[in-house]
Amino acid sequence: SRSLDFQGKKVLITMGPTQEAIDPVRFISNHSSGKMGLAIANSFLKRGAEVYVVSGPISLKVDKNSFHWYDVKSAKDMYAAAHKLHGMMDICVFAAAVADYAPAEVAPEKIKKSDSELTFKMVKNVDIASELGKMKQPGQLHIGFALETENESENAKAKLDKKNFDLIVLNSMRDTGAGFQLDTNRVHIFQRSGKSISSDVATKDTIAELILDQIKLAPIWV
Ligand code: PMT
Repeated sequence: SRSLDFQGKKVLITMGPTQEAIDPVRFISNHSSGKMGLAIANSFLKRGAEVYVVSGPISLKVDKNSFHWYDVKSAKDMYAAAHKLHGMMDICVFAAAVADYAPAEVAPEKIKKSDSELTFKMVKNVDIASELGKMKQPGQLHIGFALETENESENAKAKLDKKNFDLIVLNSMRDTGAGFQLDTNRVHIFQRSGKSISSDVATKDTIAELILDQIKLAPIWV
């Protein structure tokens, strides 16, 4: 049965966007609302887990007291918070849309408008899932997401391997009703074993339940 089937498990969820500062008033970010990650957090909570959330800036209404809740802004901060928690976790779900690059320097004062072009040098951010994937211990489960716009399945399966995930949840920007901001999603879930399933378009709450059901199918539970 689904009720309390994750009791006794500690679960870490990264969610939302990251913000990479350009100057004191500007940043680079993306369209993640945090809805998918929060649906997963709520689903784990309902099914008995102790839930740790590391969230980028979001504007959803959340009862943070139900969780161990950590607010962060940049990818660097998200990594620091997640890294501290990682060793005690049974399950980690990487639902955040982390910026792959950040401005090489943060201007100390607001950048003034001038008549010339403005160019930014960007440097690579830490890959949170990859780094923690290298530290994964037997008994720990890592679940990744892949947000793709082309060659979806191939890219998702490559990320499953490269980031040492046990399963990966693909959502495609080409699927109607899927992705950022919406209350619905459509996902394709790939297990390490090669098995995969595809969902219909459904609410993110329903998709979250499905993801948890798929986590239960990972060999670690047997
Ligand atoms: O928040 P919503 O508006 O509800 O939208 C949900 C969502 C589309 C953001 C979510 O379902 C989703 O797909 N999240 C992952 C988005 C993403 O950044 O995917 P990616 O293919 O770029 O990254 C692959 C995986 O590596 C992800 O698990 C990501 O969290 C992780 N990653 C990526 C880069 C990085 N520097 N660190 C990471 O941990």
